[in-house]
Amino acid sequence: MCGIVGYVGPQSALDVVTAGLKRLEYRGYDSAGVAVLADGGLATAKRAGKLVNLEKELAARPLPTGATAVGHTRWATHGGPTDVNAHPHLDNAGRAAVVHNGIIENFAELRAELAERGHDLASETDTEVVAHLLAEEFSSCADLAEAMRLVCRRLLGAFTLVAVHADAPDVVVGARRNSPLVVGVGEGESFLASDVAAFIEHTRSAIELGQDQVVELRRDKVTVTGFDGAPADVRTYHIDWDASAAEKGGYASFMLKEIAEQPRAVADTLLGRIDGSGALSLDEVRIPPKALREADKVVIVACGTAFHAGLIAKYAIEHWTRIPCEVELASEFRYRDPILDQQTLVIAVSQSGETMDTLMALRHAREQGARVLAICNTNGSTIPRESDAVLYTHAGPEVAVASTKAFLTQLVACYLVALYLAQVRGAKYGDEIRAVVRDLSSIARSVERVLETMEPVRELARTLAHKSTVLFLGRHVGYPVALEGALKLKELAYMHAEGFAAGELKHGPIALVEDDLPVVVVVPSPRGRSVLHDKIVSNIQEIRARGARTIVIAEEGDDEVTPYADHLIRIPPTPTLLQPLVATVPLQVFACELATARGNEVDQPRNLAKSVTVE
Ligand code: F6R
Repeated sequence: MCGIVGYVGPQSALDVVTAGLKRLEYRGYDSAGVAVLADGGLATAKRAGKLVNLEKELAARPLPTGATAVGHTRWATHGGPTDVNAHPHLDNAGRAAVVHNGIIENFAELRAELAERGHDLASETDTEVVAHLLAEEFSSCADLAEAMRLVCRRLLGAFTLVAVHADAPDVVVGARRNSPLVVGVGEGESFLASDVAAFIEHTRSAIELGQDQVVELRRDKVTVTGFDGAPADVRTYHIDWDASAAEKGGYASFMLKEIAEQPRAVADTLLGRIDGSGALSLDEVRIPPKALREADKVVIVACGTAFHAGLIAKYAIEHWTRIPCEVELASEFRYRDPILDQQTLVIAVSQSGETMDTLMALRHAREQGARVLAICNTNGSTIPRESDAVLYTHAGPEVAVASTKAFLTQLVACYLVALYLAQVRGAKYGDEIRAVVRDLSSIARSVERVLETMEPVRELARTLAHKSTVLFLGRHVGYPVALEGALKLKELAYMHAEGFAAGELKHGPIALVEDDLPVVVVVPSPRGRSVLHDKIVSNIQEIRARGARTIVIAEEGDDEVTPYADHLIRIPPTPTLLQPLVATVPLQVFACELATARGNEVDQPRNLAKSVTVE
């Protein structure tokens, strides 16, 4: 949430920073701004709205060229998305420029203190106080990194800060508490960004900053210390995905590209984790098998789409391992005093690895003695770093704000963890587990087959663009799939969309059904759990009798549903517990196409940001 870039080196710093901001725009697009050190001074430009507005401003009124610059793309917290509130923020003399991601909780107190000392603050943001404090500290110590350390010690909350000062040319400083910040180490040039995507075209060598650390960037030197000034241990790592992974590659949107990448993402997440005999091989899960055997409860914490993956995981974990499993919205978790102890295994699911709600939930769980396993897509991010163990998903970078391929890989990882728990504990469903492992191995091909047959779904979506409400129904694991289908439609098409457990309909929501209301129904496999299937066929009839337009997602060969489906979307036969991996895909395509038909920009839906680093 909010993208930050800093650069010092031989290239035009402004060009490097604006190109970096383009790659970080998914993190927030309420406003954008840059500051460049040039000709002994500081020049800035900032504009409300998307980055393109800033680019137009820079084209109309170019800034001088310099070697040191910072930039910001904003997801507004304090103060609306206006030009004045856009970052960078400056001190009154216009010598220091600061960009910020996060929330400074004691900003009101600091602002009052600054006002008393005669400072004039122009914006409504919490960030501006930092620019003023930094300039004050720098005027007495003349060392920008030291000034930043002194300021950080006074701040409460979660923040990433990057700053420059006109009297410290060739220096960029950054600070990190909770929110992400990565250093890029180049040949005679250095970068700072919220995400490696901002500088990957220049260098693959990166340093992840730890908690409460300040970094000083010069062309040839990167110095990291704690907020107290003590030198910090620094680990440089190699970024192993290439820049093209963060490009659209011929697709109209990142979302379409990422939907198409799902078979590969699913296969990559399984790769090397099932051995030749069909046994799970998850050495990377560094929780001793004894602890896994002794676990008497699993608690999954996550947000949004990752929460839906958790809801599905509950069915698999309880069925295969017989360990009770709770799934909780991370934002609610620590506030209700949950019951946790050393026997509790907490699974934190997060694509970004930076979601503040999930991070706070896992910290709370660890404080209570629980072990935490992260399922995460972002190497070296905060959530895996603070967990006891991590199982990485291999979706590759997910740029579109709405999660698609990360969701499917989260499901795969959850199934792997569930099967691994069953294996370690010698759970009683041995044959079933072996069969599931076989089925998982062929699932990427099933996802591919779904993608090959999506044209009718796209056509249908276009005809529904004028509708104001769509309902989604499912039973068993189809229920979280319905929730996910509704979430995708809400966030992309800005439509009223709700997911319900089909059996719950008669307890109230059926009152919403009216003539021609589109209702999407996810039908479980008719094989295995036929009772479940029969029940949902009845539910479809109930809504159709009341005028609903039924859009039925059902297995190939499931003819029982045919008479009651106004539109039938076929998916390959898949065991019930794994069905979400194929049933979700048409819902993603449906939401993406419907949103496009309504003229919405699918990669950057309004009011959202990819990585939610505030609570
Ligand atoms: C929806 C979506 C969000 C995220 C949620 C958690 O399409 O992307 O609901 O799933 O913000 O994000 P992570 O997985 O990064 O913790």
